[in-house]
Amino acid sequence: MGFPKVYDNVVLIGFMGSGKSSVAKMLALQLYKDFKDVDNIIEVKENATVTEIFKSKGEAYFRALEQECIDELTQKKGQIIATGGGLPIHSVISKKSLIVFINADFDVILKRLTKRERDKRPLLQDEARARALYEQRIETYREQATFIVDANQSIPTFIHMIRDFILDQRVL
Ligand code: S3P
Repeated sequence: MGFPKVYDNVVLIGFMGSGKSSVAKMLALQLYKDFKDVDNIIEVKENATVTEIFKSKGEAYFRALEQECIDELTQKKGQIIATGGGLPIHSVISKKSLIVFINADFDVILKRLTKRERDKRPLLQDEARARALYEQRIETYREQATFIVDANQSIPTFIHMIRDFILDQRVL
């Protein structure tokens, strides 16, 4: 019988607009962990919004920044990390992370997003394309997850479920 696995950090993954950042912020508060947001860290570092980075430097450049950022973050411990929707598709996340997939249906995501939140996301501008991207990615999100939460329920309900799961695990 081996020792149970100890995770360094909790990493939230899922499609754009599924609520990763707000959920990570709440969980960090409730669990007394540090909150980190990959998109936000990149924007501060580049002094530009994600939309501006996509426009001026291209998606590949942004993807390289994501990998660099998640690598740096996962050198430390005890954080709740929100990722961009494409990060687990294009980057490798340290094996020592407890990965939670925030699993909401595409239509639920669309309904929850305000126009302003939609405008911030270059890959969400064309609805048909975004839906196709969702279909393409869903399996990878599932494969990467340590825990999958049904995020079609109310946000407080599923935050509670994630918190209970994390508390049952060994996370530094
Ligand atoms: C992206 C998701 C965005 C942001 C960028 C690309 C994606 O983050 O990283 O616009 O490829 O799904 P959110 O998931 O926070 O919207």
